[in-house]
Amino acid sequence: MFIETAVDFMRFYADKCHHGKEEDILFNSLVGKPLTDSLRERAAQLTREHVVGRRSVGELSATRERYLAGDSGAVADAVRVLERIAEFYPDHIKREDAGFFIPLMDYYSKEEQDKMLEEFWEYDRMLIHEKYRLTVEGLLAKQARTQEAAVSG
Ligand SMILES: [Fe+2]
Ligand SMILES: [Fe+2]
Repeated sequence: MFIETAVDFMRFYADKCHHGKEEDILFNSLVGKPLTDSLRERAAQLTREHVVGRRSVGELSATRERYLAGDSGAVADAVRVLERIAEFYPDHIKREDAGFFIPLMDYYSKEEQDKMLEEFWEYDRMLIHEKYRLTVEGLLAKQARTQEAAVSG
């Protein structure tokens, strides 16, 4: 249950909601900005770190599947992945907040910053609909699989 909740939190809140706004709105807005090489490299590094984060959450989710399938070694692996995630995120956040977002704001006018905030709000507003659309689609797909199995079985 804890792992299931943690995976949902990491996938939906941390990755979809938080990284989503960073990548889909902020990072996309960097195109055409005359950033220093160092800031450009930092943006690329942060994107790579999001990929690593996603991979770790995938690994965590896999340990849950293994545990449910009766693999007792999955618990120790889940702890290892959780420790890795807990170690990784505070540094990632520090690198973003102090090392990237704050210096980056020099490249944005007050109007651009306000517009971006508006886009963030809109992104968040749509997310709840997306989450439950995906939930319903998942349930329908599961139902279709069950019916198919009943017909062919
Ligand atoms: Fe991030
Ligand atoms: Fe972040």
